[in-house]
Amino acid sequence: MNVVEIPRAAPPAEPSLPPALARRIEREFAARWRDQWGGRFILHGQPPRAGAVRLDGNDYLAVTGHPAIVNAQIRALRADTESVVQSGVFLLDHHPARAFEKAMAAWLGKEDAFLCQSGYAANLGLLQIIADETTPVYLDSLAHMSLWEGARAAKAPAHAFRHNDPVHLERMIATHGPGVVVVDSVYSTTGALCPLREIVEIVERTGSMVVVDESHSMGTHGPAGAGLCAQLGLTHRVHFITASLAKAFAGRAGLFTAPASMRHYIQISAYPNIFSSSLLPHEIAGLAATLDVVRAADAERGRLHAHTRRVREALADAGYPIAHGSEQIIALEAGSEPAAMHLRDVFEERGVIGAIFCAPATSRNRAMLRLTLNAGLTGSELDHVEQVAREAASLLQPWDWPIARRQRAKAGA
Ligand SMILES: Cc1ncc(COP(=O)(O)O)c(C=O)c1O
Repeated sequence: MNVVEIPRAAPPAEPSLPPALARRIEREFAARWRDQWGGRFILHGQPPRAGAVRLDGNDYLAVTGHPAIVNAQIRALRADTESVVQSGVFLLDHHPARAFEKAMAAWLGKEDAFLCQSGYAANLGLLQIIADETTPVYLDSLAHMSLWEGARAAKAPAHAFRHNDPVHLERMIATHGPGVVVVDSVYSTTGALCPLREIVEIVERTGSMVVVDESHSMGTHGPAGAGLCAQLGLTHRVHFITASLAKAFAGRAGLFTAPASMRHYIQISAYPNIFSSSLLPHEIAGLAATLDVVRAADAERGRLHAHTRRVREALADAGYPIAHGSEQIIALEAGSEPAAMHLRDVFEERGVIGAIFCAPATSRNRAMLRLTLNAGLTGSELDHVEQVAREAASLLQPWDWPIARRQRAKAGA
């Protein structure tokens, strides 16, 4: 549907910006736009052409458009005559959100779950209410930004430990004392798996708590898709599981688990639950139908993992340095921003669409093209991706990227 353009005279000029803000925009953005990006917006390529293979979404089980989900949303929209748009703090237990929370908690094997407007809101709200100025929060250096923002909202001292390095974590806890340890189950920029067993053991040894963000494993890993904690038999040893439901659930929501005794404390303390309006009934109906689809999706999970093994092997054979990850997210870390843009363009011109990740989602000079696999990809689409990757490798020599040199140096060390 096209938006109708309303003809109008040129608007009056905006008030001028204070010099300090103008200087900041020049320093933090305009120079980058000009000098690194050549006057283009780094994240925007061309509109994908018909038939392009999309590896830029997180609908891992390809549930978008599933008739059961669409119909559940339509039915709820048609039936809803009395819901009120309001913040979550007012919702009573007969609201459909509550039944969905209980179903999610049962699936995940936890006492209770708390539905949020997004994964970002879940992480921010949870950290804000379980940490304070006196609680050290230890975050894996690649933990998602929403978790860092949660520590900031809690005014907690945040300490980064080296990515996937339990020994470094334990040393930091020995220095600063027990607190909250925060990890992703599968890291969103690299597809690396967290060494969760070792992390949980340190948490228990040090009397800390652990938060596991399962955004990229909920639905895709574990029995009936219940996630990495469930797969490793660690659910009962993990204090809080959080997730975005905008990945395998392909919705617009997030969630965290918590002991049932915390429910009313959460409701009246977590800022996103108080100061932002809650999900609408048709969104919740869609998510509830999606849970049934996800639970039953063993065949899709099998296909996703087979695709992951196949594409990772082909990319490694073509010379891409991808050994730092193992799951369905594959990072082609070109390094500089211009190099990542060139890589994106080479893939895009050949009909393969990935997503650029750069600062602030990665550290500077670790810009990448992120390829994300899903269960709906066909054999011929995967053949095409692999063919394009081989062509791109002969043009771009990924074995010379900075990360490749680092990986070689580490292997030789
Ligand atoms: C690991 C992780 N946590 C949280 C989020 C935030 O999720 P949402 O998009 O639902 O706010 C994301 C999405 O980027 C993510 O990758």
